[in-house]
Amino acid sequence: MNNQALVIRSVRCAPFQDQRMGTAGLRRKVRVFGQPHYLECFVQAVLDTVGLPAGATLVIGGDGRFYNDIAIQLIIRVTAAAGVRRLIIGRGGLLSTPAASHLIRARKADGGFLLTASHNPGGPDGDFGIKFNMASGGQAPPAVTDAVYDTSRRLEGYRLADLPAIDLACTGTRQIGPLQIEVVDPVADYERLMEQLFDFGRIRAWLGRGHRLVFDALHGITGPYARQILCQSLGADAAGLLHAEPLPDFGGLHPDPNPIDGRHLVERSMQPDSPDLLAASDGDGDRNMILGPGLLVSPGDSVAMMLANASHVPGYRQGVPGVARSMPTSRALDAVAADMRLPCFETPTGWRFFCNLLDSGRIGLCGEESFGTGSWHTREKDGLWAVLFWLNLLAALDQPLPAIAAAHWRRYGRHYFQRRDYEISEAARGDELIESLRKRLPGFAGERTRLAPIGTADEFDYRDPVDSSEVRQQGIRVFLTDGSRIVYRLSGTGTAGATLRVYLERHERAAERLDLPAGAVLDPLGQLAAALARIPDITGLSTPSMVV
Ligand code: G1P
Ligand code: ZN
Repeated sequence: MNNQALVIRSVRCAPFQDQRMGTAGLRRKVRVFGQPHYLECFVQAVLDTVGLPAGATLVIGGDGRFYNDIAIQLIIRVTAAAGVRRLIIGRGGLLSTPAASHLIRARKADGGFLLTASHNPGGPDGDFGIKFNMASGGQAPPAVTDAVYDTSRRLEGYRLADLPAIDLACTGTRQIGPLQIEVVDPVADYERLMEQLFDFGRIRAWLGRGHRLVFDALHGITGPYARQILCQSLGADAAGLLHAEPLPDFGGLHPDPNPIDGRHLVERSMQPDSPDLLAASDGDGDRNMILGPGLLVSPGDSVAMMLANASHVPGYRQGVPGVARSMPTSRALDAVAADMRLPCFETPTGWRFFCNLLDSGRIGLCGEESFGTGSWHTREKDGLWAVLFWLNLLAALDQPLPAIAAAHWRRYGRHYFQRRDYEISEAARGDELIESLRKRLPGFAGERTRLAPIGTADEFDYRDPVDSSEVRQQGIRVFLTDGSRIVYRLSGTGTAGATLRVYLERHERAAERLDLPAGAVLDPLGQLAAALARIPDITGLSTPSMVV
């Protein structure tokens, strides 16, 4: 059987013109992916573009959303036809995004297909997505995704190996002609990595002393990871594990760990008997939300507090070479980095921009305001890792979470932060708004506002310090002379209309201003942001659709 060649068929079709990848891979409605040839062509375009070595190894897995199973079978056939000889696939087709990234690195694979639309809703009417990650474990960089797009627009067909449906229900290796398929436990390798980074003994003892944890997997991929690591290995009470079964439609939930979709956790944290730590992760397991009694830790604060306390965590005890945050993320991290005399890089939105910095050893910890935090241990942000980091901090410092936060703010001041999203039904209106701001930008400096005058205003362009690649127009920034900042950008992950994201930040140092509701502190800045960009005039929206 081993020497038998695979039977390969060529299928011809018209090229697709809409396969440009966004902030994190190609995301489309399930029914778009379900069109004949659509997914096959995209996978073929990736393979033609990246040029894998002969007999390559790839990792495949996804968050279990609707169409995951069908997509995996198709990817197996297209990759096999392209000469891939070894596929490592998560049992049941499941792998969290960070676990897949780790598996690519740990097994020295040549790359991987990750099937996810992250936190976007699932089900037949929901979203699906594919990302291609490189041998480094990180998402394909812009040069590659641009080239894939070019290829896809010219591609007139694909090749398909004739294979039976592959049973992914049990772990084990099987050989089909020259193709080897290994089905792995999605959690095992990942758990070993976590054991190296965190003090499991200390966390177990802390939980054993009666401290309580609530973790909500929102019916995404992290349920099995949390059950194994948090409950089995660390001894957390299984009653604190919510929505732990991965479901193709996430049980109708929006699997996004934020204060709106995770309202129930915010409410629970406000009760007098709040658990010591409450947390959630998203559909594919790369995002995290962290709460303690009476407090949601903003993602910008979370990564800053992690850095400030990193010496208590085994994997980071030796220190990190530097840190990074995406441009719109609050500058709380910069304050800690400056204090520790570490470089703090500012990158465009999207985890892939951290990867060169991680690969080259320039940074060890990084984060995004969109509930994404991670480190050099893998090349994707990592939700469960963030929960373990906080568990380790709580156990090592033996203080309640709000006390850790309060001490941090006393030392560094508090960076109040909010993101206000405006869902614009007509995509062209979003472009028009950004275009209009761009035109008026040069006149902004010096302009008086109801708050402080505008100091500078510019558009964020980025030159990667490692490979000197450049990306432009990554967000419009307005800095007031009192240190406040407004950032505007359009989302690159939506599948309909346009989402305008307005990011507000204000640093407060006075002791009596460290414990205020973020809304109260930021409302005047939000109103200024809406007026400056003429949001109501151009979009017809007088209030944000969502504030996080
Ligand atoms: C959003 C977030 C960004 C994150 C991405 C993928 O992208 O803003 O930080 O990396 O999702 O999870 P956006 O829709 O803003 O382009
Ligand atoms: Zn995600």
